[in-house]
Formats: sequence, C-alpha cells, structure tokens
Amino acid sequence: MSLRIAHAVIEEIQRGRLKAGDALPGTRELAEQLKVSRKTVISAFDELVAQGWAESHPRRGTFVSDAFVGDDGLAAPATDTPAFNLPDNSKLGPPLLWPPSAKHRFDDGLPDQRLIPADEIARAYASAARSVGRKRLFSYGDPRGSLELRDAVSRMLNLERGLSTTSENICLTRGSQMALHAVAGALVSTDDLVVFEELTYPPAVEAFRMAGAKPLFVRIDKDGLDLDGLEQLCRRRPPRAIYVTPHHQFPTTVMMRPPARLRLRALAAQFDFAIVEDDYDHEFHFEHQPMFPLASNDPGGQIVYIGSFSKVLSPSLRAGYVSAAPWLVERVGRRIGCLDRQGDPVVELAIVELIETGVLRRHVRRMHGVYQARRDSFAALLAERLHAVATFTLPAGGLSIWLRLLDPVTRETLALRSAEASVQFISSFDCAFGGDHEVGLRLGFASLNEEEMVSATDALTKVLSV
Ligand SMILES: Cc1ncc(COP(=O)(O)O)c(C=O)c1O
Repeated sequence: MSLRIAHAVIEEIQRGRLKAGDALPGTRELAEQLKVSRKTVISAFDELVAQGWAESHPRRGTFVSDAFVGDDGLAAPATDTPAFNLPDNSKLGPPLLWPPSAKHRFDDGLPDQRLIPADEIARAYASAARSVGRKRLFSYGDPRGSLELRDAVSRMLNLERGLSTTSENICLTRGSQMALHAVAGALVSTDDLVVFEELTYPPAVEAFRMAGAKPLFVRIDKDGLDLDGLEQLCRRRPPRAIYVTPHHQFPTTVMMRPPARLRLRALAAQFDFAIVEDDYDHEFHFEHQPMFPLASNDPGGQIVYIGSFSKVLSPSLRAGYVSAAPWLVERVGRRIGCLDRQGDPVVELAIVELIETGVLRRHVRRMHGVYQARRDSFAALLAERLHAVATFTLPAGGLSIWLRLLDPVTRETLALRSAEASVQFISSFDCAFGGDHEVGLRLGFASLNEEEMVSATDALTKVLSV
C-alpha cells in the first residue's frame, strides 16, 4: 500500500499537479483520508524522500523536491508511450510457423508429439537431476555444454555418421536454431557474403543477416543446388560461407547426390569458404541407410555440421549441437556464453541417459517404421486426390513431401483458399528468396494419424482444385 501511495504522488508530480516546493499533505490527515494507518503514509513519504522526489524538513513537513524538475518548473511528464523509442533494425521476416489457427494443419515435418516416449524421458530427467546434484553441477558450467553429452554426441557422429571428432569438436546448443545463430555470429563479419539456395530455411537466412552477413541466393533445380551458378558467384567474390541442408533439402526434400557433394566440397576448398551443413532430421531416411554427411569427409576443417534432437525426441527439449574445428567451437561457445551462459545440464544428462540405455535407439527404430508407413499412405492419398493438379517425388527421407503445383497460383489466392478451407501449410512463397520459383507446398506427414491425414488432404484438395 505504501508503494501505491508513493507512486500516486510521483504521478501527480509528473503530471505537474504537484510542483517543486509544494508541501505534501500531513501524514495524519492523509492517513485519515485514505483510511490507512499513519505508519503506511510515513513509509510512503520515506520512499519518496529516498528516491529523491521529496525532501523532509523537521517540524515543517515534506515538500516536493526540485531534483526532477526542468526549467519550466515541471517534472518530466508521465507518458503512456515508451520513452526509449529505438528504430527496429532487426530485419525480421514473418514467422515461418504460425501458432495453429486452422482446423487442419500440415507442419513442416515435425514428429508426432503423441508418440514421444514421455515416461522414459521423465525417468531420465529424474535420474539426471539426481546425478547433477551428486556431481555438484547445479551451478555455472562450460558454455559448450556438459562433457558427458559432448562425448556421447561425438561418439554417435563418429560411429553412425562417419565423422572424426572428439568432444573438443562439439558444442551443445538449445536446438539447431541456436546453433545457426551462434555459428553465424562466430563465422561472419559485417558484409561478408553468405550463400543460400533460393528456396531455403528462412530462419537460417535471418540468423546470418542478424550477424551482419549479406545473403546471396543461388538457383536450385529438381536435382538441387546450381553448382555452376555457385562457381560463377565465387569467381566474382568468394563468399564466407554457404548454408545447405544436403540430406533433405529444405523445403524441397531433395537429397544432394554424391557428385554434387564432391563438387561443393571442391569449390569450398578452392575458394576457401565454410560449408554450414544443417542436418536437421538425419535419422529418418527410408530408402537406405542415412547418407553420411558432407562433414564426414572434411580434411580442411571447412565444414560446420549442425544437428538436433528435435525430430528424434522432441522440439521442446531444445537440444542441438555444432560439430566443427575446435577454434570455431570455442567461438561458438563464447557466443552462447553471452546469450545464455550455458545449456541445461539436467536436459543434457537426461539425453545421455536416453542414449546409453538404448531408449533413443529403440524409439528412433519404432518411429522409423511409423513414419515410413505414414509417408506411404500420404503419398498414396496425394496421388489419388491431387494427381490432376499437382505432382511430387516420393522423398527418400525426411518427414515431409514437397508437392509441386502444375498450374501457377499467386500467394494471395493460395492464402485466401486455404483460409476458406481452414488448412495451414508452408508454401514456396514462405521460403523463396529468388525471382522465379516453382510453386510448391511442404507438407509434413509424420505428426498426422490416418484420420487427420485424410481430413487435411480433403481440405487441401478444396484449396487446389478450385
Ligand atoms: C532446416 C531446419 N533447420 C533447423 C531447424 C530448427 O530445429 P531445432 O532448433 O528445433 O533443432 C528446423 C526445424 O524445423 C529446420 O527445419
């Protein structure tokens, strides 16, 4: 209450109704008026004096001080608009994923939340929290993350993905998005060129833009990145880095073939740029074993590899990692130190436990089967319902299908029709940075059960068949 009284007096001073030198009412009188104890009013006045708004003169009373009063005799006016009005220079584009608002929703390729092993995660959390307590890790730690998980990630990358790392090559992050942000900051200086495919993952572009990079976009065709175009660009002015998603290109899902991989690596060596390889859903490859990443063959240490537990476990765990040369990992760690100080040791040790007890491996194996079946059902549905208006190639991996529309359609028409049918999806308009691009929809299938898939496809059919 005393603070509320003090604030009310400050407001009166700021509005100019109380001026420098004005006497505040007597404490007894004000206490009676406000029906509070005199002690409360005395404590409010003490606060005003302590903050410098008022001065107390023994036996005379309490007066508004002139400390905050300008030449006009008035205090700075109270205002409802923020005084600290900076220009917004963040260059943010629209969010890629909106909160679900439509009845039917295709996400951009997320796991089914209902199938996440919540009980096993809960057990791993409890055991990790105990272990963090025992090991005295409830304090500040290494910004690169806990050594246990860095070791486990390093072993996994070496054994399963053909990389050659130690824990010194690994920095843990809260999801691959933080990895992109920290890598961008660590890698580029203002006005460095960074290349992207003209259809790409917008938050990656944003992360590099925020770091001061100038993005350039190279064409992609049905086979992927136009490497001749990239070479020409390099001859004009070599970029600092290129961002790619070679396992399952975002958004088109196309996998980069071995000859293109070899040529991209050769160009990076020739023109001395870094390759930022975002392998966001590595595990889900259906036609054969997941392909080894570009980073599995990196004698020059030019590849920055980014991975995530979002698709194999859950996006809300916020667990990802960077694998790179130790000097870059050190810089990435410094960025994280500034942004977040460190990761969450309980989450990190829980993931170690899920890896070591085999829970993660069994879950991925089970989900592999479920998602492959969903991919096949969804492909059959799309072929049956939409063959007259759209086409697609069955993706070898990943959790979404890229549906190419046969007839041109504008962004506005698509938005209007999808609002009418109450269906949400990401289209090429959301992730295109070039002039002409094909019109396609990235349709995540993994989070939809059979029934949801049918009703969402029905809604999509209404959008595309008008
Ligand atoms: C291409 C790509 N990169 C990065 C991410 C970010 O994933 P997270 O930050 O959850 O690891 C996503 C999420 O869908 C993605 O599609």
